[in-house]
Amino acid sequence: MEFKKSLKEYQEIVNKELEKYIRKEECHEKILNNSVEYSLMAGGKRLRPILVIATYKLFKEDYEECLSFAIAMEMVHNFSLIHDDLPEIDNDDFRHGKPTNHKKFNHMTALLAGDSLLNQAYMVISEEILYSIQNEYKDVTHNKIKAFKEFTESVDRMIAGEFLDTELEGKEIPKQVLEYIHINKTGALLKTSVRMGAILANAPEKDIERLSIYADKIGLAFQIKDDILSEEGNPKITGKPVGNDKKLGKCTYVAYYGLEGAKQELNKIINEAIEQIKIYGKKAEFLKQLAEYIRDRNK
Ligand code: IPE
Ligand code: IPE
Ligand code: MG
Ligand code: MG
Repeated sequence: MEFKKSLKEYQEIVNKELEKYIRKEECHEKILNNSVEYSLMAGGKRLRPILVIATYKLFKEDYEECLSFAIAMEMVHNFSLIHDDLPEIDNDDFRHGKPTNHKKFNHMTALLAGDSLLNQAYMVISEEILYSIQNEYKDVTHNKIKAFKEFTESVDRMIAGEFLDTELEGKEIPKQVLEYIHINKTGALLKTSVRMGAILANAPEKDIERLSIYADKIGLAFQIKDDILSEEGNPKITGKPVGNDKKLGKCTYVAYYGLEGAKQELNKIINEAIEQIKIYGKKAEFLKQLAEYIRDRNK
């Protein structure tokens, strides 16, 4: 109960902040802005921005300092989902229990809404860095630039993972390649969310390293669970189709290890993630519960 309440509070912080970036003005490209808003406010779990904030809070309380980065991460994530659903990639008609962006609007609009979100993420961060240069100390700016660099690299990796996931559909691949796809397409943004939180809070290098191991593990576990839900989830709860990975011959943990094998792998990796952050005790309780949530979630 306590965890659910905290999760909801975090989600509200993120949603309130995202609202500030919704473009509501009358303009010629209003439909494009509506399409961006449609996906961005469709009811995502906000796990990536929550990871940024919760990790930051392990070291510092004034989490407003990392909000721009958290928001940018959620924007890129939603860009990736809009394009992931397009016919050229996964060809999905439902997400968050609603028609996907290209079904609600059209393909051209969905493509450009994705592009717009990707670019807005960079606008949000560049504004934050400029503000920091004008108003703050050198080391704060230094950390923001460091976080920005990692952010750009994670987007690069996510795109590479999406490419391979689609390119290798229907093919037999070795375990290392399967893991490589997961680490990149899903793990990269999740890992960088954690690292950005720690970097922005000026955490010591040894903590950043420790948290990176936690993040690597929850990143991989997150996609394994996504694969499991694609096999046996309830579409009414997940809000997206079930059975589509199988239909497309996707290289997933379920396809490779079977449903039970994938679940065992998931349990093992989540236990390893929790082990990494034990050293922080009660302070890391939320991050521990978040790892359990990633394992147990039904959406
Ligand atoms: C779904 O991510 C896509 C993957 C990377 C597996 P989430 O399940 O975090 O998406 P939302 O934003 O909460 O819907
Ligand atoms: C989506 O992966 C990953 C990214 C968009 C980067 P999936 O295709 O496995 O996720 P869902 O099941 O559509 O959410
Ligand atoms: Mg996909
Ligand atoms: Mg998909």
